[in-house]
Amino acid sequence: MHKKLFIPGPVEVHPDILKAMSSPMIGHRMKEYADLHSRVTAGLKKLLFTDSKVFLATSSAFGVMEGAIRNLVGTRCVNFCNGAFSDKWHDVTLRCGKQADAIRFDWGMPVTAEAVEKALASGKYDSMTMIHNETSTGVMSPITEIAEVMRRYPDVMFIVDTVSSMSALKIPVDELGIDSCIFGVQKAFALPPGLAVFTTSEKALKRASTMEGRGYYFDFIEFAANDAKHNTPSTPCISLIYALDCQLERMFAEGLENRWARHNDLANYVRYWLTERGFDSFPPLAYRSQTLTCSRNSRRIDLAALKKKLGETGFAFDDGYGKIKGETFRIAHMGDMQRSDLDELFAAITHILPELAK
Ligand SMILES: Cc1ncc(COP(=O)(O)O)c(C=O)c1O
Repeated sequence: MHKKLFIPGPVEVHPDILKAMSSPMIGHRMKEYADLHSRVTAGLKKLLFTDSKVFLATSSAFGVMEGAIRNLVGTRCVNFCNGAFSDKWHDVTLRCGKQADAIRFDWGMPVTAEAVEKALASGKYDSMTMIHNETSTGVMSPITEIAEVMRRYPDVMFIVDTVSSMSALKIPVDELGIDSCIFGVQKAFALPPGLAVFTTSEKALKRASTMEGRGYYFDFIEFAANDAKHNTPSTPCISLIYALDCQLERMFAEGLENRWARHNDLANYVRYWLTERGFDSFPPLAYRSQTLTCSRNSRRIDLAALKKKLGETGFAFDDGYGKIKGETFRIAHMGDMQRSDLDELFAAITHILPELAK
């Protein structure tokens, strides 16, 4: 039995996408691939509101997140950490042999513009990383306010993970001045995993060109050289790029404004349903995510039992991540999801909850 996915990625994949993935194979040095590549990167530029370069990497998001560290961190990096994935990015920065400091926030809290200002005013850093939407805690940090601070530090690389937010709301990469914006496609894009997308500003490419130890697979300069020929340095996941092509077409057919409004509506719908049933938001409401809801287990129910029973009924449910597992749970509402999908999950939870109370 297929369990319908309500976890924060991977998420349900629309049948049209699965069909697009079964298109006959082409060679990545053939003109057909160049056409596909240029169509997809043009679509991504429109979606990301950027004239910067947009690259396709065959890997999960962390491949490029590590690549950004190798390509863009020179003297010292500050990693803003407010959950499991941002903590991991700090760890990755150190594992790449870079000098780095973590500025930590309590889980459930956002990265703040004040903290960014304070760290950068020290003059110690030539790069910073942050996660826009911390999937482990359901927190969205105030990227516009942070971008205002970053404008005062043009020599500091602004490296942003939008893994679980890109496409669900407007994230205008150029207007925000993001030097490298990175995301995978298995979350808000609702594609199967295996493809990561990233942007590089002119400044970022200039920095990369001076960096030692970029390696090969995630060398941003290799990506730029190949992109000029509408290509990738090594063989890409062509089936997934077909899927992305199809999904971009579907996104523009829905309309970006409508897509953002749908995600906002779903976030409110889930929040309301949970609040009515006595589950409080884990993050402060002003910083709750648009793509997943992380709730406190305020009623102290057995979340592992709920997950198991939902699984038996055909739903994949998440009972919290890392150190807040069991204390919190997460419901994803991203990608192609509609209210009717959530209604199915809510009906199943409503049915199971009284059993758990016995
Ligand atoms: C915000 C965020 N960043 C990074 C990652 C890691 O992505 P991947 O598993 O695609 O490398 C995740 C995965 O859930 C995530 O949610």
